[in-house]
Amino acid sequence: MPAIIHTLGDLEGIREAWRSAGESVALVPTMGSLHEGHKALVAEAGTLADRVVVSIFVNPLQFGAGEDFEKYPRSLAEDEAFLADTTVDIIFAPDVDVVYPEGPEVAPTLDAGAVGELYEGASRPGHFAGVLTVVKRLFDCVNPDVAVFGRKDAQQLFLIESMSNAMKLGIRIVEVGTVRDADGLALSSRNAYLSPTERDQARAIPEALETASHADNPHEAVRVVRQALESAPGIVVDYVDAVDPDTFLPVFDSEMVQHAHLIVAANAGSVRLIDNRLLHFGQ
Ligand code: PAF
Repeated sequence: MPAIIHTLGDLEGIREAWRSAGESVALVPTMGSLHEGHKALVAEAGTLADRVVVSIFVNPLQFGAGEDFEKYPRSLAEDEAFLADTTVDIIFAPDVDVVYPEGPEVAPTLDAGAVGELYEGASRPGHFAGVLTVVKRLFDCVNPDVAVFGRKDAQQLFLIESMSNAMKLGIRIVEVGTVRDADGLALSSRNAYLSPTERDQARAIPEALETASHADNPHEAVRVVRQALESAPGIVVDYVDAVDPDTFLPVFDSEMVQHAHLIVAANAGSVRLIDNRLLHFGQ
């Protein structure tokens, strides 16, 4: 069983012992309610460093008004049991005042820049400022050599990598591919909110991405996904777009592009789901 640590003092003691022993540390930041997607992150982390820390913290700053902060699933005991057969050394589960001693309402947030205003950022204002702020604070607490994130949250991953580079944090950011259920739906803690009917309808999202992977260019891929989802029962599209993986900006000249990240957000009932797929063209 990994040890659960709640305070900075306990974490720093262990971190210091590891540092003295010359051991490297990988951090897997999470908001808990762990599933097989998180296990894949943990498994990758175990190959990258001597020690693995999983943080579990439901970050108030990344939830907007009317979002699911209060009802976001919290299940520390189940999460601890879920990680029992892994190589995780520590679960760092701080209280809000450990991460935001000044109070979350007045904590200065990091600026997620122009890309932070697009897509998820447009639909969830302030979301990425909250994500970057908490990730930076978790980095400061844990002081990892490497941090591991899932590709399902492609825009988040892009922004965290950009932050790490811009601030010269010296922390290697490693991405792990999306883990899917047998029917293709990307694993997410929010899938737990889906009713059986919505869960069934949500399959349209990975199916549309799969169909679009045969498109000849990014704009056609976007059209294919949009058409498929707009006619899918129970699905309401928020955005579909093809972005340049290097900039996360919309692909401009569709014919000239060799790679594009096809990104989608849609609601199945009241549950907002995101997914993406990296597409290759003309090869
Ligand atoms: O992807 C998540 O679970 C969260 O956004 C993260 C990175 C743990 C920050 O709260």
